[in-house]
Amino acid sequence: MRRLFFALCLMFVAGGALAQVILSDDEIALALAHGPWPSEWRPDSSNRVSGLSKAVTLGEALFHDPILSRDGTMSCATCHVPENGFSDGLTRGQGRVALDRNTLSLWNLTQHRWFGWSGDTDNLWAQSMTPILNPREMGHDTESLKVALSSSPHVEAYEALFGRLDQHEGQTIAVNVSKALAAFQETLVTGVTPFDSFRLALENGDVVTAGLYPLAAQRGLRIFVGKGRCAVCHFGPAFTNGEFHDAGVPYFMAGAGVDQGRFGGLTALFASPYTLDGAFSDDPDRTGAWAVRGVQRLPNDFGLFRVPGLRNVALTGPYMHDGSLPDLHAVVRHYNEIDLERMHADGEAILRPLGLSDGEVNDLVSFLESLTEGR
Ligand code: HEC
Ligand code: HEC
Repeated sequence: MRRLFFALCLMFVAGGALAQVILSDDEIALALAHGPWPSEWRPDSSNRVSGLSKAVTLGEALFHDPILSRDGTMSCATCHVPENGFSDGLTRGQGRVALDRNTLSLWNLTQHRWFGWSGDTDNLWAQSMTPILNPREMGHDTESLKVALSSSPHVEAYEALFGRLDQHEGQTIAVNVSKALAAFQETLVTGVTPFDSFRLALENGDVVTAGLYPLAAQRGLRIFVGKGRCAVCHFGPAFTNGEFHDAGVPYFMAGAGVDQGRFGGLTALFASPYTLDGAFSDDPDRTGAWAVRGVQRLPNDFGLFRVPGLRNVALTGPYMHDGSLPDLHAVVRHYNEIDLERMHADGEAILRPLGLSDGEVNDLVSFLESLTEGR
């Protein structure tokens, strides 16, 4: 009934301005699949401090504290700058040395099963430990981390959550610190966007409010769920299917060599003691460990990267795993003119040059911008 109503009410006048909903029933159904937002969330059963306010407070303090780097010069927030969409605005991250990949933003992490561009980890606390112990990033080892934490102002908060610090081994401390960091990062959820207001209005049959969503964004949405095929991979409330694909970005690295993408990520995952199936998970039922148990590493995984979520995407450029595309126009042009010679693995079956006009490119960019708060 509601749909019929929409089909009949294609056009109406609101507040003097011509406002309309131009989507078909099928397009409306596809728009509805990208919500509701925010999504429901349950604490991470592999992390016993997930969802505890004391852990969020400790995690936030640690996130901003340079004691997590060995030489005391770098905190998580050095690269994941809150005012910068929890990214750094750089092409590729800058640690103690120049890194190979673009810094991921930290929004909506609870929507993911795999973490990092290549899914090196299957949970947020393990992913949070990686930069602390990576010699190219913060450069601690578990013993130097223990020394740094023991003489920090965080001892009391740590002990309230995890027990006596001086009785813990360095490795346990690294895991606990990472679990507090994860508890904080779980709270970084993007707010309601113009797209969400439109989507909710469609769901409620509120044509007046729905008609306030700009026509350019509506036309862009049509392309996104239709001939652009974007929603094949960027699907669901967070605009990602959470899996690994080839989007035609070269995987040769700026310096030398190639970025193995998911292939290398699986090598790291299989070697890690910190998976959902490992001894450091707090979940006796090992919920979610089926994924790491079942996954296989195949030659086709070479050069695949995790599909990024697109919420607040206007704030997180430059784009792609290597930061090679400076803005959203460049991203849409990349898909429009995609170079099939560069494609390998499964992307080829889905992606092909789109042949969009300049106007359509702008419409698709308008849609992507409407996925950002305050636009
Ligand atoms: C030197 C810069 C730098 C520092 C410092 C840094 N990160 Fe990152 N972070 C990155 C880069 C680059 C990536 C993408 C890495 C990849 O996927 O290969 C990333 C990825 C992540 C991810 C994965 C996000 C996702 O969507 O899967 C998380 C979580 C994360 N960092 C948390 C942290 C935490 C917590 C700290 C502090 C303990 C931290 N980072 C410190 C640069 C940094
Ligand atoms: C085959 C799956 C697939 C399809 C189809 C697809 N994407 Fe992507 N998208 C990806 C992957 C994978 C990446 C990351 C690629 C990389 O870094 O190498 C990406 C990256 C992006 C980014 C950059 C996000 C960031 O934070 O860096 C944007 C924006 C984007 N896609 C928009 C689109 C649009 C618009 C379309 C439709 C024209 C589209 N995508 C179609 C898989 C896909």
